[in-house]
Amino acid sequence: MNDTEKLYMKRDWYENVEVLLSVDKIQDRIKELAAEITRDFQGRDLVLVGVLKGSFLFMADLCRQIDLPLSCDFLGLSSYGDHTETSGVIRITSDLKRPIEGKSVLVVEDIVDTGLTMQYLLDNLRTRHPADIKVCSLLEKPARRRVETQIDYLGFSVPDVFVVGYGLDYKGRFRNLGYIGHLKNPDGDK
Ligand code: PRP
Repeated sequence: MNDTEKLYMKRDWYENVEVLLSVDKIQDRIKELAAEITRDFQGRDLVLVGVLKGSFLFMADLCRQIDLPLSCDFLGLSSYGDHTETSGVIRITSDLKRPIEGKSVLVVEDIVDTGLTMQYLLDNLRTRHPADIKVCSLLEKPARRRVETQIDYLGFSVPDVFVVGYGLDYKGRFRNLGYIGHLKNPDGDK
């Protein structure tokens, strides 16, 4: 266990969280994804589109490992609210600040679960006429997929358990964990 992990492990408010993906494992995988993205987007007018809120830490770490000129924009989407099941109704809570017409868009997402959010987002972004759209998701939960979803760069597949940390929340909390864990008893959290 490195110093960063020791720091996170000292916190006592996460005691229902079992580590699934350690800080090091996440950061190593991000370096690999960024190397692929750096290779694939040479010479393109690249804009990273982070999907808030969940992707904010992944976006921050990924963009710093991509060795290319690029811009970053963010789009707020929400479907889960405080619930553990998607409402199926996706809401844009904050839109992009700049047009993406003619640009190579890389959507940066923390997790593809049912796929409904990504389907909605890609349909929406395509109407804005980007040159192309690719998707980079840190996690996917294949067991929960309801619609076919494009994922061009994937960090990890995770089992069908409630995951928190590294941007992912339960009722707004746990986003600031450096690792990704299984929240074993969501309704028993303090
Ligand atoms: C989460 C996550 C994805 C979406 C994936 O967002 O960040 O955007 O759910 O789920 P799906 O594939 O079933 O549609 P959430 O609505 O929890 O908002 P948040 O990112 O602000 O936490």
